[in-house]
Amino acid sequence: MNILAIESSCDDTAVAIIQDGNRVLANTQSSQLKAHQKFGGIVPELAARMHTEKIHFLIKKALHNAALTLQDMDLIAVTSGPGLEGALLIGLSAAKALAATLQIPLLPINHLHGHIYATFLSDSPPTFPLITLLVSGGHTILGHCEDHFKFTILGQTRDDAVGEAFDKVARALGLGYPGGPLIEAMATQGDPTTIAFPRAMIRDGLDFSFSGLKTSVIQKIAANPTFKKEDICASFQAAVSDILTQKALDACLKTTTNTLILCGGVSANRYIQNQLQRIMSQHNITVITPQFDFCTDNAAMIGACAYHRFNTLDSIPKQEHLASPNLSLGICPL
Ligand code: KG4
Ligand code: ZN
Repeated sequence: MNILAIESSCDDTAVAIIQDGNRVLANTQSSQLKAHQKFGGIVPELAARMHTEKIHFLIKKALHNAALTLQDMDLIAVTSGPGLEGALLIGLSAAKALAATLQIPLLPINHLHGHIYATFLSDSPPTFPLITLLVSGGHTILGHCEDHFKFTILGQTRDDAVGEAFDKVARALGLGYPGGPLIEAMATQGDPTTIAFPRAMIRDGLDFSFSGLKTSVIQKIAANPTFKKEDICASFQAAVSDILTQKALDACLKTTTNTLILCGGVSANRYIQNQLQRIMSQHNITVITPQFDFCTDNAAMIGACAYHRFNTLDSIPKQEHLASPNLSLGICPL
């Protein structure tokens, strides 16, 4: 089964072709990073305009890379939320036009489910039940996944998402955007024990709070301009990693679950990956992360997710699919 998948929820326009759920025949992408950088954040109208400029080209490129034609596709998959409404609508419109012309089904996908299914782009996919720690620029969620698409939220951030905290700390240090990879690189040269940043709510349930940590780092930078950036990055990253590891462990122990999926853009962070692996292995919990290229936003994960969603549905009703900017983890668009 060949699925053409489209992702346009934020600032990456992405198109992939996935065969039988885990063979990536094409995975193309165009980043808008440079265009937004000069504004210091993502400008929604600009994102939508740039998706419109790139989407047609990327569909053609993906087909070329896969050496297939549109007539070889069996299903069109598209992210319908959460994300920026104008940006989502570009992907949805393109997907609707393709499905209608080709007379094949269209399956709207929850972007958060896509991040989880990024780990299914593998020859040995995870098995349920499992706990997911989804950490991205917009979300920080601990979820229980009982089976395919039976997801419930155990805890989430009460303020900033982890990726957002990385991005804001990087901005305060003048490092650029996105902050995660830049902080991770700088932290390799620093000492994580230099500054004892707060680990908010670490023993207090499964919700998270990162705004106090972020503010504490920003205040430290303002008060002590002589601190080495490398030490600040390493100390901040260690605090984040301690919090994520403790909460993920608590979630696994509380639900007696022995598989943990770490996914979302922040899952690309090797320091966090390593600490999770080290602590979880002491409790016989297996940690699974997506391949590096599938950690941050991409369309391959949307295609993988669509394959499994399609298999759980008896039929796909023909209906108008709308953008759902605030879609939550527990909801399937279809
Ligand atoms: O999943 P994603 O690509 O987009 C959203 O759905 O939000 O995540 C982007 C976020 C950004 O905040 C970025 O700074 C963070 O993921 N990120 C990282 C790393 N790579 C990306 N954070 C920490 N370490 C990294 N290596
Ligand atoms: Zn994402």
